[in-house]
Amino acid sequence: MIETSLNIKKAETSKLHLLDFDNIPFGKVFTDHMYVADYKDGEWGDFRIEPFAKFSIHPANIAWHYGQSIFEGMKATKSIDGTPMLFRPEMHSKRINRSAERLCMPAFPKDAFMEGIYELVKLEQNWIPKQEGSALYLRPFMIAMDEFIGVQVSKTYKFVIFCCPVGPYYSKSLRLKAETKYIRAAEGGTGYAKAAGNYAGSLYPTELAKSEGYDQVLWLDAKEFKYAQEVGTMNIFFAIGDKVITPSIKEGTILEGITRSSLIAILKEKGHTVEERPIEIGEIMAAGKEGSLKEVFGAGTAAVVANVKTIGYNGDEVNLNPDNYKISPMLKDTINGIRSTRLEDTHGWTVKVV
Ligand code: COI
Repeated sequence: MIETSLNIKKAETSKLHLLDFDNIPFGKVFTDHMYVADYKDGEWGDFRIEPFAKFSIHPANIAWHYGQSIFEGMKATKSIDGTPMLFRPEMHSKRINRSAERLCMPAFPKDAFMEGIYELVKLEQNWIPKQEGSALYLRPFMIAMDEFIGVQVSKTYKFVIFCCPVGPYYSKSLRLKAETKYIRAAEGGTGYAKAAGNYAGSLYPTELAKSEGYDQVLWLDAKEFKYAQEVGTMNIFFAIGDKVITPSIKEGTILEGITRSSLIAILKEKGHTVEERPIEIGEIMAAGKEGSLKEVFGAGTAAVVANVKTIGYNGDEVNLNPDNYKISPMLKDTINGIRSTRLEDTHGWTVKVV
C-alpha cells in the first residue's frame, strides 16, 4: 500500500456481537469505524479512521441546501479461506471523481481512496458476512461543508466511508413501470453522476408507481419518452431473441454501473451477443407480446442481479416468469462466485485485503 499519513483511532467497544448474520436488514446496521478526510485550502488532509459516530453539521451547510453531495456503493466479501476482498475498487475511485467533476467538487486522490477502503475493510473484516450473496456494503460519499446561504461552489468538503453488512437489496422479482410523465435524467444533466439529487428526484414518481402496484420505475429518455434508460437503483438488461441488450452509456444519462460492465464482460465471455444501444420501450413491449423477450433483469452493486417479472407501459403490461430465466441466474452465480473465490477471477477484478 501507499505511504500513509492515516491516523487510526479504534473504537473502545464493538457492536459486532449485536449482529445476527442470518438476518441482516439492508442499510440499517453500521460497523464500528468510519474513514474521514477533510478538504480545505485547496487540498485534502486529516485522513483518519475513527469510531463510527454522528457528525455535527451547521444548519446552513451548503450541501443540504444546494445539493453538492455524491456517493459510491461498493462491496467487500470474503474468500473461501476467509481473506477479505474488494471488488473493482479502482473503478469506484474513478467514478466518484467523474461525479465530483460534474458537481464541481474536488477529486478525491485515488491513492487515498484505495488506502481508506483497504484499511477500513481490514479493520472491519469480522463484519463481512460469509454467506454468498451477502457482503459488507461500503458507502464512500462526499459532501460540501461550507456554511453559507447562496448558490456557489463550496470551498470545503468532507469525504467519508462507512460500512454496512448487507444481504440482497431486492428479495423478490420486480414489477417496473415505464414512466411517461416524469424523467430521471436528460442529456447534459447529471444522470451519469452518482449524485444524491438524482435519487431525490426519483422518489415522487417511484411512490406514484408503487401506489399503482409497481416496485420501481423504468426511466425513459427525457426528449421523447421512447428509450429505456435505467431503474435508478440499477442498470437494466433485456434478453431478446438470442441477444442481450442494455442501454448505452454514451448519452450520459445513465449510471456507468460497475456491475453492468462486469456482466457485459461475463456475457461476452460466455458467448452471448451483447448490444449496448438505445432500446425503445416499444421494442421491449412488442418483444414481450410476441414472446421473444426472454428475460429482464437489473444490475447494480446493491441489487447484484435482480429479476424483473413485469413491465407496465401506458396501461399495458408484459409479464414474464423469472423461474424460466437462464441468463440472469448464470450471471448472479458467476459474479457471486467470483466474489467468494468459488469461481476463478480471470479478470483480476478482486483485490485481496491482507
Ligand atoms: C448501489 O447499488 O450501490 C446503489 O447505490 C443503489 C442504491 C439503491 C443502494
